[in-house]
Amino acid sequence: MKMHTFHPIKISPHDKLITLIGSNPHVLLLLEHLNLPLLVGNQKIESYCTKNNIDTNLFITLLTLYIGLPLPTDISLPASELPSIVKLLKNSHHYYLHEKYIEIKNKIHEMHLVNPEPELSWVEKFFEDYMAEVREHLDYEEHTAFPYFLSLTQGKMSNNFQFSAKDYLNHHSDIEIKLADLKQLLLAHLPVAEDYKARRQTLQCLMELEFDLKVHTLIEEKILVPLVIQLEEQLK
Ligand SMILES: [Fe+2]
Ligand SMILES: [Fe+2]
Repeated sequence: MKMHTFHPIKISPHDKLITLIGSNPHVLLLLEHLNLPLLVGNQKIESYCTKNNIDTNLFITLLTLYIGLPLPTDISLPASELPSIVKLLKNSHHYYLHEKYIEIKNKIHEMHLVNPEPELSWVEKFFEDYMAEVREHLDYEEHTAFPYFLSLTQGKMSNNFQFSAKDYLNHHSDIEIKLADLKQLLLAHLPVAEDYKARRQTLQCLMELEFDLKVHTLIEEKILVPLVIQLEEQLK
């Protein structure tokens, strides 16, 4: 049987959202992070956006990332979209800390139960340490970075905020590297027993987290930060 998969090179405002979801379920996660309706019916992207008060350009840019296409180089978004972007980021933080964290922790535990080698307890420890670092980063964003970004949209500029895009980038790459190390441990180093199912499910969960974090980081670095810099320039 021939599979018909829809792989657009570029998303158009006239594309139907349901087709995009059918070929890439990650889009559901985007709708969830934006608190948008899941029952999309037969609507085209453009009318869905108008109906739900979201900028079509922003939505198409985000869809592009969520279906795994490279970010367009010519993104131009109005600063008024900043609160929507921050809302999406905060919702995805919640998804990491309250959904993926629990899921992965449980899967690692199941793996350890069927494969009681001492090395398997390293994974539990490694993952806990990793999540502590992620939590610290998300906390910093929610309590320091985001409030500052939002204050800029209200025309305020605070001099006592030390924001460094460089520190931000470094922290992000640390988070990505550690997650890759964890996958490496599970695929190349840890002894196996009859733990096919639990190990596969652990890896799938980790890769779902990895994908969303990758998109999330791109949104922060390539969409949010440039918008913030643009606002700072205007307020100078
Ligand atoms: Fe974030
Ligand atoms: Fe971040």
